[in-house]
Amino acid sequence: MRIVPDRTVRRTTSASASPVSRRDVLRLGGGALALGALAACTPGSDAPSPVASATPTWTPPAAPMRLPDGFVLGAATSAFQVEGSTTSDGRGTSIWDTFAAQPGHVRGGATGDPAADHYRRWEQDVDLMAELGLDGYRFSVAWPRVQPTGSGSVNQAGVDFYRRLVDRLLERGIEPAVTLYHWDLPQPLQDRGGWAARDTASRFADYAAIVVDALPDVTGPWLTINEPKTTAYVGYGSGYHAPGVSDVDQMVAAVHDQLLGHGLAVQAFRASGATGRIGIALNLQPVYPAGAGAHDAAVRADAVENRLFLDPVLVGAYPDDAIGDLPGQIPADPAVLDALVRDGDLATVSEPLDVLAIQYYGVTGVDSSGQNVRLYPTSDAPWQQVHPEGLYETLVRVRDDYPGAPPLVITENGIPDRTPEGTTDDAERVAFLRAHLQQVARAVGDGVDVRAYYAWSLLDNFEWAEGLDQRWGLVHVDFETQERTPKSSARWYADVVAQHAVPPA
Ligand code: FCB
Repeated sequence: MRIVPDRTVRRTTSASASPVSRRDVLRLGGGALALGALAACTPGSDAPSPVASATPTWTPPAAPMRLPDGFVLGAATSAFQVEGSTTSDGRGTSIWDTFAAQPGHVRGGATGDPAADHYRRWEQDVDLMAELGLDGYRFSVAWPRVQPTGSGSVNQAGVDFYRRLVDRLLERGIEPAVTLYHWDLPQPLQDRGGWAARDTASRFADYAAIVVDALPDVTGPWLTINEPKTTAYVGYGSGYHAPGVSDVDQMVAAVHDQLLGHGLAVQAFRASGATGRIGIALNLQPVYPAGAGAHDAAVRADAVENRLFLDPVLVGAYPDDAIGDLPGQIPADPAVLDALVRDGDLATVSEPLDVLAIQYYGVTGVDSSGQNVRLYPTSDAPWQQVHPEGLYETLVRVRDDYPGAPPLVITENGIPDRTPEGTTDDAERVAFLRAHLQQVARAVGDGVDVRAYYAWSLLDNFEWAEGLDQRWGLVHVDFETQERTPKSSARWYADVVAQHAVPPA
């Protein structure tokens, strides 16, 4: 079955806009549903939640909430979103270079060059992190810089860039956290099927071994793959992201092949003798039934959003309710997934981990027909329904439903500015970060083992199909001059790091 790409979704400030997004292709049940019809069945952004199962609102204490000793407060970026210099020093071409070069894929025709020019300004950026006092910095390694064709020979200049970056971070007392894959697949691998081809999993493990050998002293968490869900559903399902494929069978294959690649990379990490900690970065979101008769569809949508990734990684089994023709499911034949899974695959996928990284942006409602419903106000990203209690609920849920889960780290959480041109007086981001950090402290207080939090993002950057228009940074970047200006949120966050506590409003 083909899923029709949804390219009509754009950043909007309209309160009645559809909450459907680049991340929500599945609720479209084949993609052909008119957005107008969907918008009509959703409550307005300020409508009260009609469901009893959504987490009750929680009132934070009036006093600062201290975080445990050793808890890391950092910020995150990814290579393609900040580096620029996409043709420098032997870097190969990634699927995002190819995708962004085609008209109509990225707002304003932006490409990954210069993005935030971090490949040339990295020293200044580390200085900035040091000024803010950050405990940690999560960045990703660009596979096409290290292995320009995705297999075979290593580009030493690319490896050296990350070596220098790690050295400088360690000198400054900032703990590096490395993501091995944040969406910039070498184009030659896509030409052979990309993540819909099983061989890519093995190529990824080879590449992971190269990076792990080059950076053996990285002590912060290693993350194999960033959000396999987004790559599968939006890169191979809706086609709204690179590689722009819209095919549900390839989408299902991309789920399994990425998880297999994750497991093989963990094996390579262990075989290398690395002493660091490794895990995977999963974007999770509570799914609430919205309206009468929505319970079953919401349970299936939860399988699609959460359990299709948590179960294989943490317990070595795929849920049996994620794929099929019932409301809320991925509209494919379950036999497609069964045919992909070979003997031993699930043992590989569920290699024991040292950390589980959770990325949290918000929640969603699902109605009885499996369509997404807006239950909470959205940010300037129409797919983001803001509900801080959902972060607490997610952390507690992972602990309770997956007793074998390793310690948790939160590797992304953030919000875009309201104004497309950006602002440095970002009171909304301050309120968002405060509310979410309070939920983290609350979960820790209730016994959930959370070890780190990285705000998304350190810098305004290339926000994928939204180009340079959607600004998620703590630090404003003028893309003409590349001048960096810390926003109010950066100053506020620096204070949180210094106090090691989340202050009340
Ligand atoms: C996450 C991505 C990250 C950025 C934020 C806003 O899904 O991992 O690169 O796009 O969303």
